Amino acid sequence: MNKTVDISYQPVGRYEDKRNEKMHTDIFPNSSIASIAVAEEIAELIRAKALGGDMAILGLATGSSPIKVYSELIRMHEEEGLSFRNVVTFNLDEYYGLDPMHRQSYWYFMHEHLFDHVDILPENINVPSGKVAPEQLNQFCIDYELKIKSYGGLDFQLLGIGRTGHIGFNEPGSHRKSATRLITLDHLTRSDAASDFAGIDNVPRKAITMGVGTIMTAKRIIMLAWGEKKAEVVKEMIEGEVTGEVPATFLQDHFNTTVLIDEPASSELVRIKTPWLVGPVNWTESLIIKAVVWLAEKEDKPILKLTDRDYNDNGMSSLVALEGSAYDLNIRMFNYLSDTITGWPGGKPNADDSRRPERAEPAHKKIVIFSPHPDDDVISMGGTLQRLAKQGHEVHVVYQTSGNIAVADHDALRFAEFALQFKNIEVEGESSEKYENVIDLIKNKSDNEIDPKEVRVIKTLIRRGEAIAATRYCGIKDENVHYLDMPFYDTGKAKKNPLGDADIKLIVDILEDIQPNQIFAAGDLADPHGTHKVCLDGIFAAIAKLKKKTFMKECYVWLYRGAWHEWDVNDIEMAVPISPEELARKRKAIFFHQSQKDGVMFLGNDHREFWQRSEDRNRGTADLYDKLGLPEYEAIEAFKRYRF
Ligand code: F6R
Repeated sequence: MNKTVDISYQPVGRYEDKRNEKMHTDIFPNSSIASIAVAEEIAELIRAKALGGDMAILGLATGSSPIKVYSELIRMHEEEGLSFRNVVTFNLDEYYGLDPMHRQSYWYFMHEHLFDHVDILPENINVPSGKVAPEQLNQFCIDYELKIKSYGGLDFQLLGIGRTGHIGFNEPGSHRKSATRLITLDHLTRSDAASDFAGIDNVPRKAITMGVGTIMTAKRIIMLAWGEKKAEVVKEMIEGEVTGEVPATFLQDHFNTTVLIDEPASSELVRIKTPWLVGPVNWTESLIIKAVVWLAEKEDKPILKLTDRDYNDNGMSSLVALEGSAYDLNIRMFNYLSDTITGWPGGKPNADDSRRPERAEPAHKKIVIFSPHPDDDVISMGGTLQRLAKQGHEVHVVYQTSGNIAVADHDALRFAEFALQFKNIEVEGESSEKYENVIDLIKNKSDNEIDPKEVRVIKTLIRRGEAIAATRYCGIKDENVHYLDMPFYDTGKAKKNPLGDADIKLIVDILEDIQPNQIFAAGDLADPHGTHKVCLDGIFAAIAKLKKKTFMKECYVWLYRGAWHEWDVNDIEMAVPISPEELARKRKAIFFHQSQKDGVMFLGNDHREFWQRSEDRNRGTADLYDKLGLPEYEAIEAFKRYRF
């Protein structure tokens, strides 16, 4: 029988969708709550085994998904005396070729995130070795399997899912009965790991992984998936047919697997995306808009042409009954979407603003545009930003982090060499040691090394130079450009520190100083390193602290999306049309960010450059509005209001 996770929290999943979902799935409001539930189940297993004098045999995963589970286990060890003396672990996989001490090896990861902080005996830790000689590989893999069997098999297996649908490193094409072996990593998997390795070229091409067959022998499996990025593959795993092309679908045949996901990862499931197709729904305004837009797209009709029959055939008869008729509903939704469109993102002076997204007064607003990295402002809202400046508002751009890890060494070297030459021309004979030192540091740095402080400073200055050039071009005054350099970011590596009080204070201070009428912030939670999410959390925390102040009470906060994803139409509350000329100017503003052009290391699997993605996205939104029967524009930038 399926053992459901013992949780004191209620998962969010509206109701089970037995028709479409082939695995037991619990949806949680966020990954922290879900991770605590998983850690509790693991702790319960360890304690129960200890009582019987037995060892708990755990199969463990690496990657971003299980990190909070491990930190909760460490907390339980430290505060509740949970002991790992009776725990034996087997890790799923390891990059082939990496030494255990390599900062990106899974051996290193496990010690950093769990083993170094609990009382597990080193001899009970098993991570496949990435350094086995090719001629010994076969025997090594057989021995790994035999060792698991010698303990009576895995009591518990923790899993994450890759965007290829891999479990462990069993990439598409893996057999249901495969055992531990050497595999070739999929290109998508390697590009997802590219940022950790400072570029895809440094990501190993092969890995040793437990097989699908090995994983399937576990007595209990928990699969974790967080974030929008996983939503599509999560849907395939849970609702798709069992196929070796998506190895995670094999878990549908496992007798005791639970999938734990957060809301963003659940967003493509039928019960979340189109709940009206699954059962009775509570028709909130946001769900009505979502349903009508979905129906118009599905039927390939503008909203005003949808009929009673279209609604009835698609599980929405209750909605039509609620609204009276398709005709009334169509007009109401058409008007709603029309009202989101405005060419006056800062409000239209002297106009009736009762149905406009922004207030007319004050006519000249003080505006703060937060940008997580120095380029998100122009990539995500470059058209709106230029309009705001042109329409006479006092626009401040606040860069939250330096963005220095995304600058390549060759760019830093170019600037350091420039500085050296410049200095030699300027001040003949004076010592130029400082620059020589930086040049040597860059030249002698290995791929696996954190940038020394001096190199980070150079990279920060490169991005600042690009940002000020772009904002100047957009009509922003130099004195209104601010750099917060939030400390959580400055670790020199892709992995950042958690948000701290010092980060929040910087945001509080600048808001108190400027006292804006309007704030724009990146509400983009799908960026690969989570920097945008931390930056947004910082802004929300600062707003919470300031919300009783008069200026804050009257301030409107608008969220834009970054390079990775657009708002769904039902989320859009302000749609700013961009003319062909404005779009060209926006492109030029993005071009100022030269260090982020031409195959930068963090583009991920999408090879379009940032300006291309943003144009495609803005044109896509305009196209969608057009198809829904609204006016046809060249492009649209979209915003959602945050109400606090
Ligand atoms: C890790 C592993 C992989 C990851 C998967 C998801 O040991 O075997 O299958 O679980 O790639 O990675 P994250 O959690 O980083 O998204």
